[in-house]
Amino acid sequence: MKIAIDGPAGAGKSTLARRLAEKLNYIYIDTGAMYRALTWEALRKEININNATIMAELARTTDIHFMINSSQRVICNGIDITEQIRTPEVTLAVSQVAAHREVRELMVSKQQQMAQAVSVVMDGRDIGECVMPDADYKFYITASIKERTRRRAAELKANGYEASEQNISKEIQDRDYNDTHRTTGALKVLKDSIIIDTSNLTIDEALNTLLEIIER
Ligand code: CDP
Repeated sequence: MKIAIDGPAGAGKSTLARRLAEKLNYIYIDTGAMYRALTWEALRKEININNATIMAELARTTDIHFMINSSQRVICNGIDITEQIRTPEVTLAVSQVAAHREVRELMVSKQQQMAQAVSVVMDGRDIGECVMPDADYKFYITASIKERTRRRAAELKANGYEASEQNISKEIQDRDYNDTHRTTGALKVLKDSIIIDTSNLTIDEALNTLLEIIER
């Protein structure tokens, strides 16, 4: 079984996808973490993230994988960068990195290999369209901009970062714009997407909504 979860920034996709995978005993693959890891590596090496050729080369030569012990860890060239990829610097730059066609081709191909032969829940922006067009379920998880801002602010605060709601809201809307307007792998509602608006739902309620649809 393959479950694709797409949607805009801060809609609660990752938490929902992780919980769904736990519940169903499937593998969870956070594709956003892969674009974030590449962005972290580029920033660390002070590479110009807008240079498509250099970024494609970096994507080819950077080993990014997941390691599962008690939680899922993101490993980049042997270094555990699970926490580092959530910093505001990475968040601000990631959608520019993810816009490069060659970078996407490499990532999509890696993600397709990961999705082979096992039951997976995968979340991102282009999962239903590009990575797993044959997915059994394609969910499009969304929420109002106000609610997404509120959730992102709480998440940042929990991780020790301070940011005004105004700045967070702008960051989310800029990233949504980049993610929906790029020429490859743009975020969109598909013909076979099941849209779930989580604005007024708790995580448990949203999870139950997905489970009910799958079990039906
Ligand atoms: O912040 P949030 O959890 O919503 O985003 P994420 O899933 O960690 O993804 C971060 C960024 O990576 C997105 O804003 C996209 O630019 C990019 N991304 C993508 O282009 N394609 C994917 N399949 C997943 C993420």
